[in-house]
Amino acid sequence: MRIIMLGCGGFIGSHLLDRLLDEGGFEIHGWDPSDRKIARHLTNPNFHLHRNTTNSPGELAEIESEIAQADVVFNLAAICNPAEYNTRPLDTIYANLFDIYPIVELCAKYKKWLVSFSTSEVYGRTLSSYLPGDNYSNPDFYELREDETPLIMGPISNQRWTYACAKQMTERLIYAHNQENGMPFTIIRPLNFFGPKMDYIPGRDGSSDGVPRVLACFMTALLDNKPMQLVDGGLAQRTIVSIHDAVDAMRLMLKFPDKAQNQIFNIGNRNNEVNIAELAELMRLTYAKITGDLSYKNHPIVNTTSKQFYGEGYEDCDRRMPDLSKAETLLGWTPTKPLAEVLLETMSYYHQQYASPVQEKVSA
Ligand code: UGA
Repeated sequence: MRIIMLGCGGFIGSHLLDRLLDEGGFEIHGWDPSDRKIARHLTNPNFHLHRNTTNSPGELAEIESEIAQADVVFNLAAICNPAEYNTRPLDTIYANLFDIYPIVELCAKYKKWLVSFSTSEVYGRTLSSYLPGDNYSNPDFYELREDETPLIMGPISNQRWTYACAKQMTERLIYAHNQENGMPFTIIRPLNFFGPKMDYIPGRDGSSDGVPRVLACFMTALLDNKPMQLVDGGLAQRTIVSIHDAVDAMRLMLKFPDKAQNQIFNIGNRNNEVNIAELAELMRLTYAKITGDLSYKNHPIVNTTSKQFYGEGYEDCDRRMPDLSKAETLLGWTPTKPLAEVLLETMSYYHQQYASPVQEKVSA
């Protein structure tokens, strides 16, 4: 099977490459300026890396000739970090909509199967969060169902939603090409994939600075002996799924194209729901276990506001509880890894990768 993978050097792409290249039977042409997370595949004769972004001058002609010969095109290229949606709104809109637009057009032209990574953020906030009173007792108001749930976002001045809107427009473009031109597609809406190689640790990964997603923020705090920061009380809820479970779902999509094509899939884990305050607590307990240093159990956790942490225009998704019945019924996929195991694996990786041998602890 001949695969194009745009954004193959990121977190999800690197794990998908691990699975497909280790299994064999796939010829993969990838695009990514960074090879840091995929270094071990660079000498594999079944992998060909183009070290450019898809919007680099002249790159589209090369991509077109590869798409024309491909069986499936994975689109993983994105800006997908909430700290950037309100601080780099134009880059966010361009990367997640306009840079992807020519790729979608090429897939439509050659009628190639486009597997596009979207986001659970297209759902926006739940109906429950807008209704008065406690409406989380009724799943009809908060459960995220791919083909039913309305997509609800805040006002334009809350630029948090630049990402969700750009991704939604890309989904609509893909869907329209399927309906009008018969382009086969699969849209994946990830719900907080966690695993080794996710994001980066500011100050420790080359020149990367800025604010990564919550896992890497809390890991940075533990590694640097700084307090973990809870935004707006840490009340937002997330369901967390292992990257390995998620890659299983992608593998099943390739195995059963007739079931996977022309569908939108939530990929998440209903059993691993926590609020962010609970996640902070679990992470400091897990880090105490990994390091053998019991004082991490009391690692400082402090409160901050979203305005202080992210700046103007941030608004949060309150809860992400996916309906997974489509992935279960069509693909036979069910996630298996409990949160404790996901955190142990992921945090052990970060510890091995980044912890300096001698650390000074802050007093709890
Ligand atoms: C992000 C992306 O926007 C989604 O596209 C993506 O699908 C999703 O991650 C994912 O990983 O699947 P989000 O879950 O909001 O969405 O991103 P995080 O940065 O991980 O934030 C999660 C929660 O933790 C938010 O409530 C945030 O305010 C909070 N947070 C973050 C903290 O309390 N402290 C921190 O140091 C960082």
